[in-house]
Amino acid sequence: MNAKLIDGKAVSAALREQMKAEVAALAEEGITPGLAVVLVGEDPASQVYVRNKEKACEELGIYSEKYLLPTETTQEELLTLVDKLNRKPDIDGILVQLPLPGHLDEKAVIAAISPEKDVDAFHAQNVGKIMIGDYKFLPCTPAGVMELLHAAQIEVKGKECVVIGRSNIVGKPMAMLLLHQHGTVTICHSRTRNLAEVTRRADILIAAVGKAKFVTADMVKPGATVIDVGMNRDENGKLCGDVDFGAVCEVAGAITPVPGGVGPMTITMLMKNTIAAAKR
Ligand code: GUN
Repeated sequence: MNAKLIDGKAVSAALREQMKAEVAALAEEGITPGLAVVLVGEDPASQVYVRNKEKACEELGIYSEKYLLPTETTQEELLTLVDKLNRKPDIDGILVQLPLPGHLDEKAVIAAISPEKDVDAFHAQNVGKIMIGDYKFLPCTPAGVMELLHAAQIEVKGKECVVIGRSNIVGKPMAMLLLHQHGTVTICHSRTRNLAEVTRRADILIAAVGKAKFVTADMVKPGATVIDVGMNRDENGKLCGDVDFGAVCEVAGAITPVPGGVGPMTITMLMKNTIAAAKR
C-alpha cells in the first residue's frame, strides 16, 4: 500500500473527547443537549445507523429519544410527531432517518422540521444558508469529510476537487464546502462524459456514488487524496465503499478506508450539531 491511511475512527475519537468536555461544561449551566431520532420502517442499514447514533449520544452525555414507527405510518402521523418534537423543550435536534418508505413525502417531512432543530441541515433554509456561507449547521457527512481533510493536513485551497455524485445529502453540499475552502470544484454524475478523464484531474477525489468499488485505479491521479463516502455490500456481503480500495491505495497519496473512514465522522458531526443547537 502506497497511500497514507486517513483514520476516521481516530479523528472521530479525538473530536468526541473534546465534545464530552463541552457537554460536561454545559451540564454545569443546567443544559443537556437532546436529540430525537425518528425511523420509519425496518430497513436494516437504517436500523444500524440509528443504533450507532443512540450509542454516540450515550457516550457523550447527550439525551436521546428514539421513535421507531411502523412502515405503514401515514404522512399525517409522521408530521404530527415532527410537530410535537418541534415544540418539545428538551429536544434540540431532530433527525428523521432517510430514506423513508415510498408512500411518504420526504421533502414535506424535511420542510416540517424546525430549521433551528434541523441537525441534518437538510431544510431548505439551512441549505440556502450554506450556499451563502452563513450557516449554523453543516450537513454531517460533508462536514465530516472536511474535518478529515483538515486532520490529515490536506489543503483544499487552489486544488482540483472532483466530487462524484450530486445528491442533496452529500454531493451538492460537499461541493459547496470545498468551494468555501477555495477549491476548484467539479461535480460528476451518471451523465458525465469521459468520467475517468475528469476524475484523473483531481487532487482531491470524493466518491459519493453508492456503487460498490466504482472508483478504479485508472480513475485516480497518482498521489491524489481519495475520500470514500460509500457504504455498500460487495458480492460476498462484506461492507465496502465506492472505491476499489485494494487497487486505488497503490495509486493514491492518501485514502479513507470503509469502514473506519467517513462513517464514524458523520455521527460525530451530528453530535456537534446537536450540541450547537442546545447552545442557542
Ligand atoms: N440516511 C443516510 N444518511 C443520512 C443522514 O445523514 N441523515 C439522515 N437523516 N438520514 C440519512
